[in-house]
Amino acid sequence: MRAHFAAGLATLALAALVSDVRAQSDTSDPNKTIAENLLALPGTSALAGLLKTEAFLPLVKQLNGTDLYTVFAPSNSALASVDTTDPNVLTALVSYHVLGAQVKSTDLKAYQVNQTLLTDDKYTTLPSGEGQALVITSSNGNVNVTSGKPDDPAKVTQADLTASNGVVHVIDQVLNFPGPLSKVAPAIADISTFTQLVKGVSGLVGALEESRGVTIFAPNNAALSGVDTSSLNATTLADILKFHVINGTVIYSPQIQDTAQVQTVQGGSIVANRSADNKVYIQNFEVVRPDILLENGVLHIINGVMMPNTAVKGSASATSDAARHSVVSAAFLLAAVPYLYLTL
Ligand SMILES: *[C@@H]1O[C@H](CO)[C@@H](O)[C@H](O)[C@H]1NC(C)=O
Ligand SMILES: *[C@@H]1O[C@H](CO)[C@@H](O)[C@H](O)[C@H]1NC(C)=O
Ligand SMILES: *[C@@H]1O[C@H](CO)[C@@H](O)[C@H](O)[C@H]1NC(C)=O
Ligand SMILES: *[C@@H]1O[C@H](CO)[C@@H](O)[C@H](O)[C@H]1NC(C)=O
Ligand SMILES: *[C@@H]1O[C@H](CO)[C@@H](O)[C@H](O)[C@H]1NC(C)=O
Ligand SMILES: *[C@@H]1O[C@H](CO)[C@@H](O)[C@H](O)[C@H]1NC(C)=O
Ligand SMILES: *[C@@H]1O[C@H](CO)[C@@H](O)[C@H](O)[C@H]1NC(C)=O
Repeated sequence: MRAHFAAGLATLALAALVSDVRAQSDTSDPNKTIAENLLALPGTSALAGLLKTEAFLPLVKQLNGTDLYTVFAPSNSALASVDTTDPNVLTALVSYHVLGAQVKSTDLKAYQVNQTLLTDDKYTTLPSGEGQALVITSSNGNVNVTSGKPDDPAKVTQADLTASNGVVHVIDQVLNFPGPLSKVAPAIADISTFTQLVKGVSGLVGALEESRGVTIFAPNNAALSGVDTSSLNATTLADILKFHVINGTVIYSPQIQDTAQVQTVQGGSIVANRSADNKVYIQNFEVVRPDILLENGVLHIINGVMMPNTAVKGSASATSDAARHSVVSAAFLLAAVPYLYLTL
C-alpha cells in the first residue's frame, strides 16, 4: 500500500511540472459534480490520483451527490510536497480541505473562519461535531486560506471552478493540521512570555491540550512586561492564566459581534465585544491577532493582562453563532467596578 502511494505520488509530481502550467486555464463542467470535475481537471490531477484510491471512496461518494461543498484543491506541485503516504492521514488531510457548504469567491467576506469536514479525533479534538476550521481572507480578488501554519497561508491560484454541487478553488500549498498548544505557541515570538508562564504552571499545558475545545486569550509580551509575575505566588499566577482560558467552547473572532459574557477556567467571567470600527475587545483589551488555530481550539493575542474579580457593566446579547457555543446571552448584573489592571 505504502509503495503504491509513494510511486503514485512520485509519478504525479513529475506530471505536475507540466500540468501546473495548464492549471491556470482549467475549466470545470458545471453540470458535473465536484468529484467528477476533480477527477478530470489537469491542474489537480495529483489529487485525482488520491481520489481514485480505495481509501477515498466514501469522500468521493460524498462529493458526487447533491449536497453542496467547497473544495480547496491543492495544485499538483503543492500535493507533491506532502510527506506522507499513509492513507488514513491523507483522507483526514483531504477532509480538512473541504467545507460543507458552497462558498464562491464572491460570497467571501474580507475575513471569515469556517468549519471543514475534518472531525477525526486523531487530528483534531474540538467539541463533538465541530469540524476543524480554516481562516479565509479576501482582498481585491486575492484569497488566502490559513490553517496550521499561522504565518504561511495557502493562496487561491484559481477560484470558482463551478460544479453541480458546489465549487472548487485551487490552492498553491497543502493545508496543515493545526497543532497542539505546545507546538503552536513557541513559534509565535510575540507571546513568548505567556508561553513560558503557562509552561511554569504544573499540569497546565497538559490540561489545556487535553480539553475538548479551548479558547485562549494570550497577552502579548508588551502587556506582560508591565506585570511583575515574580512577585505573585503560584496560585495567583495560575488563576490569572486560567482567567485567560475558556474550556469546552471555541470562539473564533467573527463570532464575537454583540457584547457577550463567557466564563473562564478560573471561574470568573470575561466580556467580549466588537467596536464600531470592527475591532474585537476582551475586557476592553484589543485582540491584536485573532484566530491562531490549535488542534483543540483557538488562540487570540490580546494587548493586556486580564485580572480575575473584575467586572464590566453592559448588556449582553450573543449572536446565534455565539449562543450555539453556549456564550451566556442573558443580561448580566455585575458591579460597575473599573478594571483592575496589574500595577505591581
Ligand atoms: C449543462 O446542462 C444544460 C441543461 O441540460 C445545458 O443547456 C448546458 O449546455 C450544459 N452545460 C455544459 C457546460 O455542458
Ligand atoms: C457519480 O455519480 C454518477 C451517478 O449519479 C455516476 O454515474 C458516476 O460514476 C459517479 N462518479 C464517481 C466518481 O463516483
Ligand atoms: C463562514 O464564516 C463566516 C463567519 O466567519 C460566516 O458568516 C459564514 O456564514 C460561514 N460560511 C459557511 C459556509 O459556513
Ligand atoms: C495573503 O498572505 C500574504 C502573505 O503570505 C499577504 O501578503 C497578503 O496580503 C494576504 N492576502 C490576503 C487577501 O489576506
Ligand atoms: C476542561 O473541562 C474538562 C471536562 O470537565 C476537564 O477534564 C479539563 O481538565 C478542563 N480543562 C481545563 C484547562 O481546565
Ligand atoms: C497567594 O497570594 C494571594 C494574593 O496575595 C493571597 O491571597 C494567597 O493567600 C496566597 N496564597 C498562598 C498559598 O500563599
Ligand atoms: C466595547 O468596546 C469598546 C471599544 O470600542 C469599549 O469602549 C466599550 O467599553 C466596550 N463595551 C463593553 C460592554 O465591553
